[in-house]
Amino acid sequence: MSAADRVRAAVGAVSDPELRRPIGDLDMVREISVDDGHAHVAIALTIVGCPAADRIESDVRRAAASVDGIADVTIDLGVMTPAERKALTEKLRDGRPARQMPFGPDSLTRVILVSSGKGGVGKSTVTANLAVALAEQGLAVGLVDADVHGFSIPGLLGIPAGTQPTRIDDLMLPPVAHGVKTISIGMFLRDGDAAVAWRGPMLHRTVQQFLTDVFFGDLDVLLIDMPPGTGDIAISIGQILPHAEVLVVTTPQAAASDVAIRSGVVARQTGQRVIGVVENMAALTLPDGTVVDLFGTGGGAAVAEALSQPDEDVPLLVSIPLSPQLRTGGDTGVPVVVGEPADASSVAIRAVSEYIAHRGRGLAGRSLPLSL
Ligand SMILES: Nc1ncnc2c1ncn2[C@@H]1O[C@H](COP(=O)(O)OP(=O)(O)OP(=O)(O)O)[C@@H](O)[C@H]1O
Ligand SMILES: [Mg+2]
Repeated sequence: MSAADRVRAAVGAVSDPELRRPIGDLDMVREISVDDGHAHVAIALTIVGCPAADRIESDVRRAAASVDGIADVTIDLGVMTPAERKALTEKLRDGRPARQMPFGPDSLTRVILVSSGKGGVGKSTVTANLAVALAEQGLAVGLVDADVHGFSIPGLLGIPAGTQPTRIDDLMLPPVAHGVKTISIGMFLRDGDAAVAWRGPMLHRTVQQFLTDVFFGDLDVLLIDMPPGTGDIAISIGQILPHAEVLVVTTPQAAASDVAIRSGVVARQTGQRVIGVVENMAALTLPDGTVVDLFGTGGGAAVAEALSQPDEDVPLLVSIPLSPQLRTGGDTGVPVVVGEPADASSVAIRAVSEYIAHRGRGLAGRSLPLSL
């Protein structure tokens, strides 16, 4: 191998931080020459003002300099031509036509909705932490904030205000936070924008665009943080993703569990499958042993029992205790599973992530590719 070939191999392996693929595969390495220990590398960025430019440049410099016999490196950063960009977006789509929803029933991605019926039971907090815990286990995870009116995911994951998806032509690249590719209406509102006051059709289009035009790449799991209730968005998602799996979140309180049962029943009517119940805000044990069960007990078990059917058991997966650390983690944007991994709430959320990662997707309701 010539020195230039070795530099090409090292530089080509550098990963694009947004697209998460080697820049060699993305045809971003234009030219490499080596002259007497001096490497010259020309890189084509996808777009002008690419937010990842500095990171790519330093990673490329480090990669080239690590090759034996290279004493110094110069880098030329250019930008792809429209034709090069078109070739790239086609490659990324992998033959799939633009505007086609990639999460249909034949997709290998598991789509899991987190819903509850009642508001404020901790859906978004649980979803954000679950997504991060799944990513920590090495899964490729996406998160769609489907609560268009009351979005909260960017804050929970510490995505700075003003962060927008990067656009490469008609592909939108979701920001990545704690290893999770994330999209939320909050990334499209500017300072001074009125609160989102849209009705059904507009909500439907927004959710559909999140699922169609955002380039998530190959995901193992796509989590969807649902708004409270069984309104327009739940109906739209039922139509767009009838094969999705559903986690139902409830508190231990009877009033919350009644509404949670209803949300599970409605999801099932659209064809979705309830895979388990998560009880949140369960009893907290203080250091002196005092048990504080602010919301009572039994809600999670009641929901699991009510949603179970003779041919389909719906288990109560876990009880997440009330936890000041869980709440603080949401306020500061450092999810508790990252910031306080030993907290009882983190342990409980990791247990759910392990259950999901190891259980695999069930075959119920799916046609088998082989006929017997
Ligand atoms: N186990 C817990 N211990 C302490 N606080 C919690 C716990 N779970 C959630 N919270 C807090 O409760 C509040 C509501 O949580 P969250 O926003 O996640 O609920 P939600 O169900 O998504 O609400 P909405 O229905 O409005 O979307 C937040 O302030 C959150 O920090
Ligand atoms: Mg929420």
